[in-house]
Amino acid sequence: MTEILFEKYRPQTFNEIISNNEINAEIEATVNSGSIPHLLFYGRAGIGKTTMAHVIKNRLFELNVLSKFLEINASDERGIDTIRDKVKTFARTGNGNKDQFKICFLDEADAITNDGQNALRRIMEKYQKNCRFILSCNRISEIIEPIQSRCTIYGFKPINKIDGINQLQMINNKENGNIEEDYLEAIFNKSNGDMRKCINTLQSSLNGSHRKLSEVFNIDTYDRIIEAIMFGNLRQPLIDLNELTEDPRDIVLGLYESVFKKDLDCSKEFYIALGELDRALISGGIPKIQFAWFVNKV
Ligand SMILES: Nc1ncnc2c1ncn2[C@@H]1O[C@H](COP(=O)(O)OP(=O)(O)OP(=O)(O)O)[C@@H](O)[C@H]1O
Ligand SMILES: [Mg+2]
Repeated sequence: MTEILFEKYRPQTFNEIISNNEINAEIEATVNSGSIPHLLFYGRAGIGKTTMAHVIKNRLFELNVLSKFLEINASDERGIDTIRDKVKTFARTGNGNKDQFKICFLDEADAITNDGQNALRRIMEKYQKNCRFILSCNRISEIIEPIQSRCTIYGFKPINKIDGINQLQMINNKENGNIEEDYLEAIFNKSNGDMRKCINTLQSSLNGSHRKLSEVFNIDTYDRIIEAIMFGNLRQPLIDLNELTEDPRDIVLGLYESVFKKDLDCSKEFYIALGELDRALISGGIPKIQFAWFVNKV
């Protein structure tokens, strides 16, 4: 089986983590002191939250202050039973050495039910000495306030462009790929700062399934959509838009790239509508409906 590159290049130490430099430095300094508070990481997908929890674990084991590490992915086990049984049992049992503590890492913690979170907050408080919690999630608003207030919170940002492209270049070199810089940049631009997505696209490019930039961007389809809209045709572009399989926000980006690259003479209204489409999608608008609004608006 081919190796999954984003796992192969998952940082193992603090100095391998890219972007979010201030957060990294602060967490590293805390961890080097030999102890940590409860931590809560939030932010978009593929930007290093899970990676950070593992790097912390590695360093604490090196420092010999960590006795055990339990990891639970809350999107698989989200109910109160897991919290009461697995988590509580782990947290309360002694670790036999007063200078050591345990860590329970709850990944995708925003999936934990409300009951589960309420049970968790009591466990966090009661067994604080014995066990520290690291929670990671996409939507911090789904984490109840009493848990938030027991944690030191870090909001991770999307990967910075220069760091992201350098990382892709490093992987490309190590894999003996010969993908060009502007192609790597295009991969990055399409990713919204999601490094996992970047590395996955790079991997399919290295495997030869996407050789041309146009394939990464689906440029032909986007060109066709834009052209049709400009000629006042509404039905076909809507069908095309709904058939695209990428993330709806990537579609907005694809439309933009297509217009921008060709220097098409689009009206001011076009760009305004594109911006409104983007905002509507971020705030949870149904893509099909928003696309219909968009093609009718421009
Ligand atoms: N800051 C980073 N530095 C280097 N590589 C990174 C970074 N962030 C992400 N990656 C790459 O992306 C992969 C996925 O990252 P990670 O699992 O940490 O994402 P996440 O933020 O936990 O995302 P999700 O919200 O989807 O769980 C890593 O294996 C690594 O290859
Ligand atoms: Mg994660």
